[in-house]
Amino acid sequence: MRKGKVIAVAGKGGTGKTAIAALLIRSIIEASNDDVCILAVDADADSNLPDALGISYDKSVGDIREELLDAKQHDVTLDVRSKFEGKIAEIIEETDYFDLLVMGRPEGPGCYCPVNHILRLTIDTLAKNYDYVVIDCEAGLEHLSRRTTTDVDTMIVVLDTTLKSIKTALRLKKIADEIDVDVRRMFVIANKIPDGYEGTIKEEARGYGIEVDGIIPFDPQIVDYDTRGKPVMDLPDDSVSVTAMKRITSQIINAQAL
Ligand SMILES: Nc1ncnc2c1ncn2[C@@H]1O[C@H](COP(=O)(O)OP(=O)(O)OP(=O)(O)O)[C@@H](O)[C@H]1O
Ligand SMILES: [Mg+2]
Repeated sequence: MRKGKVIAVAGKGGTGKTAIAALLIRSIIEASNDDVCILAVDADADSNLPDALGISYDKSVGDIREELLDAKQHDVTLDVRSKFEGKIAEIIEETDYFDLLVMGRPEGPGCYCPVNHILRLTIDTLAKNYDYVVIDCEAGLEHLSRRTTTDVDTMIVVLDTTLKSIKTALRLKKIADEIDVDVRRMFVIANKIPDGYEGTIKEEARGYGIEVDGIIPFDPQIVDYDTRGKPVMDLPDDSVSVTAMKRITSQIINAQAL
C-alpha cells in the first residue's frame, strides 16, 4: 500500500493556486524520474486545473452526484454510496504521468451532506493508490469549513503582494487549527513577487504572524502562457517559476519524509 501524501493548495483568489498546483505536480514527477503516482484533484468549482495541466476531462464529481441524486428520486432503493464509488473510478482521467479528478460544482438542490461525506471517504480511500494527492482548492474557505476536504499532510497557503492575501492566509491558519481537518504542516508560498521585493513581503507577512517558507518570483512567462491558453505545466525548464518551484518541492518532500 502506498503512503498517499496529501498536499492541498489554498489561498486567496487569484494568488496563483492553480499555477502552483500544476508546477508542483510537474516538479514531483521530475524529482522522482517519472517513478511516481500522482492524483491531481481539482476542488475548485471553476475547474482551471485541467487547462493548467494541459488535459481535458469528461465528467466531474458534481455531474455524477447530480445524476445519482436524480436517479435516487426515481428509485429510493438505489444504493448511492456503492454507485458513487464506482462512478468516481470511471471519471478519473488517466495520463502517463498523473491522474486527474475534477470535483465540479458542489451546490444544487437536495441535501448534499451525506454525499460530501462519502466523497471525503472516497478521497481517503483513493489516496492509498497514489504516492501523492495534490488538491487545487477553491478560493474561499468554505471548502475547509464544509469539511469536504480530506486530512492533509501539507497545506500550501499561497499569498501574493496584497495585504488581503496575507489576511486570508492568517484566516486559513486559524480555521485549520479550529476545525476537524488534520493538517500536519503548513507551507506558505509568496507568489508573483517582483525582484527585490522578497524582504518586504516576508516582513509584512511576519507582522501578521505568517512566516513565508518559499518565494516564487513574478514570471512573465506564466502570464504569456495563460494569455495564449498554453498549459503552465509546459513552461520551459529555465523559467523562473519552474526553478523556484523545483526548490520548494524538494523542501516539501523532504519535510514530509521526516
Ligand atoms: N509567478 C507568477 N508570475 C506571474 N503571474 C502569475 C504567477 N502565478 C500566477 N500568475 C497569474 O496570476 C493569475 C492567477 O493565477 P491562478 O489562476 O493560478 O490563481 P488561482 O489562485 O488559482 O486563482 P483562482 O482563485 O481564480 O482559482 C493568472 O493570470 C496567472 O497567469
Ligand atoms: Mg485556481
